[in-house]
Amino acid sequence: MTEPQPQQSWVKVFAPASIGNLGPGFDSLGVALEGLGDTIEARRIETPGVRIIEMTGEKENIPTDPARNCAGRAAESVLKQLKGKAAKEAGLEMKLHKGLPQGSGLGSSAASAVGGAVAAHLLFGSALGRNIRLEAPLAAEILGSGGRHADNLAASLLGGFTIVRSHEPLDVIRLEMPSSFRFVVVLPGMEIETRYARSVLPEVISLKDAASNWANTAALVAAVAQGKPADFGRAVVDRVVEPVRSKLVPGFSEVKHAALEAGAHGCSISGAGPALFAVASVDAAERVALAMQAAFQRHGLPGRHFICPPDNRGARRLD
Ligand code: HSE
Repeated sequence: MTEPQPQQSWVKVFAPASIGNLGPGFDSLGVALEGLGDTIEARRIETPGVRIIEMTGEKENIPTDPARNCAGRAAESVLKQLKGKAAKEAGLEMKLHKGLPQGSGLGSSAASAVGGAVAAHLLFGSALGRNIRLEAPLAAEILGSGGRHADNLAASLLGGFTIVRSHEPLDVIRLEMPSSFRFVVVLPGMEIETRYARSVLPEVISLKDAASNWANTAALVAAVAQGKPADFGRAVVDRVVEPVRSKLVPGFSEVKHAALEAGAHGCSISGAGPALFAVASVDAAERVALAMQAAFQRHGLPGRHFICPPDNRGARRLD
């Protein structure tokens, strides 16, 4: 007769949503958002491998097969880094609560991947460095989007404002985001696959457009460092990606115009879209959100909005 095994305890992890690119900083800039994100509970089990036993929340079209699920895949990558006997025997099961929809542009797959990786690290006590903690979710993100980009992952893992200076090797710089910033995000109730949104991007761009994006990317970093939301918004100018991807978002120009008319400091596509984000003062945020939502509505898209301060904590244990 086998001895009954002691019940393993659960760990609970929250990983925030994020805005990638922030206009000109394609694949390099990101900011984590307070109040939106995925929650993952996980515990060790005797059976080797990763199992997803429950999914709740905005789980539409998200597979429970761990090999095709960002949280599951990221946890698998962590287990693969274990050595010897532990590598063969390690098993975990997880419950995933999706707090944001897939394909919205708010770093949904990144939040799942970061949450899955952090939970696995906690359970298997791996004292791994920051880059290793990013590598596992990155493997999962590649699965979801077809591209090696860590802008959403870095923001979700570390919180604040993140700059992925290099992807190979990974080199991330993090800045604390002043709490006076407000990000308005409006989801138009449709989905754009990141993989598709990346396939439409130009391979060649003009030096003039590149120089504009470089200047504005630098200006965004300066605005964070100086705590100036209006300067930040003014630098949300993307002459490379937005002109192409905006065609995928019905009503893009009207929604952006509505945001600026209502007092937003700046507005662009959040990540790969279709969500749009605007930078606004605390006072103007609600007005900007409603104006953007109404503009989407005029294009037949019943949107919803969120007004988020930055999340400076990043992925964290909740229990
Ligand atoms: N930087 C990425 C992109 C974010 O724009 O494709 C989407 O996950």
